[in-house]
Amino acid sequence: MEKKNKVFIATSLDGYIADRNGGLDWLSSDWLESVPSDDNTGMGYEPFVESIDALVMGRTTFETVVGFGVPWPYKKPVFVLSNTMKEIPDSHKDKAFLVKGELKEVLEHIHEKGYYNLYIDGGTTVSSFLKEGLIDEMILTRIPILLGGGHPLFYELPKRVKFKLLESKVYKNQIVQNHYKVV
Ligand SMILES: NC(=O)c1ccc[n+]([C@@H]2O[C@H](COP(=O)([O-])OP(=O)(O)OC[C@H]3O[C@@H](n4cnc5c(N)ncnc54)[C@H](OP(=O)(O)O)[C@@H]3O)[C@@H](O)[C@H]2O)c1
Repeated sequence: MEKKNKVFIATSLDGYIADRNGGLDWLSSDWLESVPSDDNTGMGYEPFVESIDALVMGRTTFETVVGFGVPWPYKKPVFVLSNTMKEIPDSHKDKAFLVKGELKEVLEHIHEKGYYNLYIDGGTTVSSFLKEGLIDEMILTRIPILLGGGHPLFYELPKRVKFKLLESKVYKNQIVQNHYKVV
């Protein structure tokens, strides 16, 4: 079975995935919603999540999504990376599973459960996967705003990682989405 780790994430022009307060308000702000669109795929998000077997996300992203107080948005199992969290809150025990330790061992554990095509989410998490050469594809959606600070998508890496552009789309004549594959 082919194993793949993919990223699907939105960033500001200055490369942040959340503002200084961790907020994603800018993703649903009026200016974005007010641009008419005939796209009904969530800018490619819906087919992307259909294509994956499970998610691996950092503790911060998990806590942010839980904190939204909305119905759980994922239909696939979510593996939460954390070395500090003792256990998944009771409210989410059937949906999310705590994982810790070396990423390669974490991935082996997830593959043994039958999940091979993984959605890797959270900036620190994506960078730690990149550091170990464990990302295969990235779909990056660039929102035309400078946040000026916040949670970056990319941190320092020990060496260059080269990508090939597979596809580029423009949504709402505003938002550029690039699909990259590691060379
Ligand atoms: N724009 C978007 O599309 C988008 C998508 C996802 C998330 N976000 C936002 O981005 C923010 C979170 O991103 P983030 O970069 O701060 O954090 P993150 O990657 O979600 O979480 C980082 C945490 O994961 C845990 N962790 C354990 N092992 C790890 C490992 N090997 N590598 C990396 N993390 C590991 C650590 O928690 P412990 O300290 O518990 O060990 C670490 O502090 C949130 O505000 C979220 O809403 C935005």
